[in-house]
Amino acid sequence: MSTHQSLERIVTLPTDDDPQAWRREVRTLLRECVHPDHVVWRVGGESDLFADLGEPPPQAEPAKVSLPKSAVKLVETAIHHADRDRFALLYRFLWRSQNVRDLAFNMADPDNVAVRRLEKAIRRDAHKMHAFVRFRKVDEVDGRERYAAWFEPDHHIIEREAPFFMRRFANMDWAIVTPRKTAIYENGKVRFAPGGQREDVPADDAFEDAWCAYYAHIFNPARIMTDAMRAEMPKKYWKNLPEARLIPQLLEQAPARVAKMNAAAQSAPERLQLETQHGTTAWNDVDEIRRAVHQCTACDLHCHATQAVTGEGPLDAHLFLIGEQPGDHEDLGGRPFIGPAGQLLDQHLAQVGIDRSACYVTNAVKHFKFQFRGKRRVHQAPKITEIDACAPFLHGEHHLVRPKVTVSLGATALRGLLGKTMPLSRVRGETLQLPAAMGGGVLVPTFHPSYLLRLKDEGQRAVEARKFTADLAKAAELAKGEA
Ligand code: URA
Repeated sequence: MSTHQSLERIVTLPTDDDPQAWRREVRTLLRECVHPDHVVWRVGGESDLFADLGEPPPQAEPAKVSLPKSAVKLVETAIHHADRDRFALLYRFLWRSQNVRDLAFNMADPDNVAVRRLEKAIRRDAHKMHAFVRFRKVDEVDGRERYAAWFEPDHHIIEREAPFFMRRFANMDWAIVTPRKTAIYENGKVRFAPGGQREDVPADDAFEDAWCAYYAHIFNPARIMTDAMRAEMPKKYWKNLPEARLIPQLLEQAPARVAKMNAAAQSAPERLQLETQHGTTAWNDVDEIRRAVHQCTACDLHCHATQAVTGEGPLDAHLFLIGEQPGDHEDLGGRPFIGPAGQLLDQHLAQVGIDRSACYVTNAVKHFKFQFRGKRRVHQAPKITEIDACAPFLHGEHHLVRPKVTVSLGATALRGLLGKTMPLSRVRGETLQLPAAMGGGVLVPTFHPSYLLRLKDEGQRAVEARKFTADLAKAAELAKGEA
């Protein structure tokens, strides 16, 4: 709502955190060419010294407004800052950007510097919110679990950040309570209610113990930088974080744990280096490989996946099956080939008389690579660097099992095993001898079951499915030693 006077324009916003209202007002002011020096910003309820102002000036023809994207982008974030002076600063910044088109890139301009400071503070607050919101189970309604979390942001970010939590926690109902506003997500929709208090959220739940156990497990005693930890996890968040109470004890135990790790024959990174340098894969046992996989940070995939998924099956298996990477189901379940592609694979294995539980089943890449499409996590093919970063684990598993027959499912599996790219179309249907350094045995390269799932044409799918079955049948016979 704007009040007019010959020069001064008083703009009263309904609340301090209503970006839409601010945007509406800004649009009007810019169209009416109101100079920033003539605008006084107020928030509803504040006493208004200029309440009794004269008639609004006659409306001029509205001007066409054109703003550079760079400026709008900065302002869209900075408007969520809690600083009351931001309304004037951001309006002035947009006003000036109409003529100074590269204002957002001028690091010597005091307005730009001030706007960027606000924008950075919001990004930091959002990062903290993503990292430190901890849900506690409240109850269960009609079989759907409901969770709540308490969080104290520095700025007005809850509406801005709600979509992040909607994507991340799409399958449960939740509320994030903050002192100013509460975001409530129910049945796929979010709404906002007045803020609350810490006491509105239960103090702990059974999930908390599991979370603490997980945190203690992933806490790396060899990588302790207390200053960085303090900067990353400021004290104000500690009271909400169940894991914070573990930290003193974990820090105390760290030197002893590091000594023990050093005493172990070779550390996982040393082993990886060894393989790269000498092509050897001398892991002591499969647990050692699994531990190393779970600690691996050799590429970025570990940052986004729920967990690493290692291979499973008897270590004396004759058949060794290699897939591409865990999918959505495998990432959540922690086991390879348990989703749709896994079910199709099981059907084909059963058709040719292969008992899956007698096979060692693993993937070339141990973390799920995906991108969000709406709420869905959609598979993305791994890059060669990611396949190669994971290869020492695959080679380690292969070396320990020393199977008679290895079946690579798809191009990624082939690359992971051989360390070089070989067109699948050239080798599918062949049987390749593996070198002794790789544990020997033969390789049956075939395509990935998800290729069959993707084929739309029924006729083509039937033809390809027959080839797939034939490849598996050949592998079964070779494993029995009858080929
Ligand atoms: N696709 C794979 O390649 N591996 C799995 O584990 C699941 C789907």
